[in-house]
Amino acid sequence: MKKKLSQNPKVDFPKALAQKLIQRCEEGTLRSLKKPDSKRVDFSSNDYLGFSRHKLISEFALDKLKTYPGQLHGATGSRLLTGNYAMLEDFESYLQHFYNAEAATVFNSGYDANLGLLSAIAQRQDLILYDELSHASIRDGIGLSKAKAYKFQHNDLNDLKEKLVKFQDQFETIYVITEHVFSMDGDCADVDGIAKLCVEFGAYFILDEAHSIGAISKTGDSPFDAVVFARIITFGKSFGSHGAAVLGTEPLKQYLINFAKSFIYTTAPGVETTARNWAAHLYLESSSAEFESLRMNIAFFQKQIKAHRLIDFFIESQSAIQSCVIGGNEEVKLISSQLQEEGFDVRAILSPTVPQGKERLRFCLHSFNTRNEIETALLALAKYLIQ
Ligand SMILES: Cc1ncc(COP(=O)(O)O)c(C=O)c1O
Repeated sequence: MKKKLSQNPKVDFPKALAQKLIQRCEEGTLRSLKKPDSKRVDFSSNDYLGFSRHKLISEFALDKLKTYPGQLHGATGSRLLTGNYAMLEDFESYLQHFYNAEAATVFNSGYDANLGLLSAIAQRQDLILYDELSHASIRDGIGLSKAKAYKFQHNDLNDLKEKLVKFQDQFETIYVITEHVFSMDGDCADVDGIAKLCVEFGAYFILDEAHSIGAISKTGDSPFDAVVFARIITFGKSFGSHGAAVLGTEPLKQYLINFAKSFIYTTAPGVETTARNWAAHLYLESSSAEFESLRMNIAFFQKQIKAHRLIDFFIESQSAIQSCVIGGNEEVKLISSQLQEEGFDVRAILSPTVPQGKERLRFCLHSFNTRNEIETALLALAKYLIQ
């Protein structure tokens, strides 16, 4: 008789790994999974426009699925094998039109897009200059590439220029990458300034638009687009869904299909998700209501932090991400749990995710937050912070 396989309950956990967990416990930085509490006011999700809960978008998505009769529910393979279904190709064509780009290549997530793009394009003889506050997916993509990489000081065009001057003759190709809206600070890069420097030094500009599309502009469309080598847009933030795309030229798309490992060696995005992503774009194209409500909430939040004398705690930001720097993991966790108890879901961002001393509460604003919610949350914050 065949012996039934069962997991050995005595499988050892390597000591070095256990030690790392113990260290996290001791430092008060151990991460754990928690269910979101839908009773609390949402000041923490990336669903900036409320699209994850939008009935009309669900209907649009169903309609889209119906226009592809016979479409299987699973992608069934990678894009280069059986996963290149018609709806996905049509969605990419639609994205080209929506974002005014020559070509769009869909990835399973923004993390995959940055990883695949950066690891594939930058060669041994190349240099990548990246903003020091760049997202982990950008840094991991750089880490997987063979190129040399240096960070430039956050949003510091002089530092970037100095590095471009210093390295311009030492490398075959220089790539410069930044986020448009920074995920932890919420501030914006000087995209025009960086684009001009890239033109001056013949560098290739890559822009991560994860938190800007739908939050500071509907399509990110602007005059500097012509000099951007690649833009990364994600569907898990303002579109309330999942996935991402790299926008760029036709040769870039061809290159990614051939060399981006996170595109090649993975099952293509799900069919229902593609329908949802397309529906969310169609909705955003047809309506500005949520975008405008979000912009009004951002303006109202700014007014309120001034009114409650909180402005010095907040990093200057015109985006949906408003960060209140408190400093100290324990201090931030305490105020976050006090706000949670009062019914506001505001999350603590701890070191090492942000530098030590810059631990913060990150308010993510939404189109659906009410003025009353914003005002009462900030009143509570002022009570705990200023006393
Ligand atoms: C700037 C930035 N780029 C990329 C990503 C990754 O996107 P995704 O969540 O789709 O993997 C994130 C996610 O938080 C992000 O903040």
